[in-house]
Amino acid sequence: MTTWNLEGTTCHLLVCGGSSCKKRKGEDIIDAIDGEIEKQGAEAAVHTTLTRCNGRCSDAPVVISYPDGVWYGDMSPKLGKALVRQLLQGGRLEDNIVYTFGTEGMQAAGTPGTKGKKKKKG
Ligand code: FES
Repeated sequence: MTTWNLEGTTCHLLVCGGSSCKKRKGEDIIDAIDGEIEKQGAEAAVHTTLTRCNGRCSDAPVVISYPDGVWYGDMSPKLGKALVRQLLQGGRLEDNIVYTFGTEGMQAAGTPGTKGKKKKKG
């Protein structure tokens, strides 16, 4: 078991480890992301968590960034490294964004992969 002191953390990346994402290098992506965080000396700023399925398998592999609330799809180890570098500079991976949080809640980015069943309200 590990207990991190998260004071100073500015970004939390949720890397999907569900079966659809695993089939498309999900585990290589978290290794690449963790390696880039270490390379950039950003261990205190960026925290990572390997998750179960996030319900967007058609976008696999998925990486979610908080507190900005951006969901990235069709990720790769190379893009995972690029995401870390972008986040540390206040940027994003614009081409891979599938959802963002807006004033109305989650907003589809209008890119491929936004298909799927609509969740029932209430
Ligand atoms: S397995 Fe990653 S979104 Fe479903």
